[in-house]
Amino acid sequence: MNRAIQQMVCTHHGEELWQRIKERADLADLDFFSTYQAYPDDVTHRLVAAASEELGLTPAEIMQAFGEYWITYTASEGYEQLLESTGETLPEFLDHLDTLHARAGLAFPELKPPSFRCQHGEDQSLDLEYRSSRQGLAPMVVGLLHGLGRRFRTLVTVEQTAARAQGDQQDLFHIRYHDDKPEG
Ligand code: HEM
Repeated sequence: MNRAIQQMVCTHHGEELWQRIKERADLADLDFFSTYQAYPDDVTHRLVAAASEELGLTPAEIMQAFGEYWITYTASEGYEQLLESTGETLPEFLDHLDTLHARAGLAFPELKPPSFRCQHGEDQSLDLEYRSSRQGLAPMVVGLLHGLGRRFRTLVTVEQTAARAQGDQQDLFHIRYHDDKPEG
């Protein structure tokens, strides 16, 4: 995640802003994030807070933008095949998110993956339950869902219907989708 945040900032805003964010997050000494090393969650939180101050966006907006970016990032960082094997449509893909993380986990032994469960509706809608050992990542899920919508050329609307941050048992998202592909 930290690597992806670095790449997102550098691509969209340049190296100079990345240096400022690193300094603000007390990470000035760090040259780069190693792919296979686990960093404390606190590092990610500091990066998000610093990016939020430098860019004038709320932390939730940063997390959402990051979630969207993550889909293209992983596709270009060697995970395209994993993404492809997870599903050919948005609803099919969302059914297999836990398998995707279990497979990704083979490369990251210290993974504490999230868990998702879908309840499909009849009218191109579904409810997605998100469970996590972490707090505060629900906005990222919204971004991820939009990123997936773009990947599958599917129009997606996402409404959060329950939130742990507001005392609910879990995070719940109501998702409506429909194919954006031209006919024929
Ligand atoms: C090839 C694609 C993907 C890879 C390689 C991947 C891998 C990972 C990794 C390594 C983590 C960090 C877990 C940890 O440090 O313990 C993570 C976290 C997470 N992933 Fe994915 N992921 C992918 C796609 C997705 C997609 C499509 C979603 C859609 C909802 C998703 C949702 C999440 C969430 C919400 C977290 C936060 C962890 C938490 O809640 O504790 N990921 N993923």
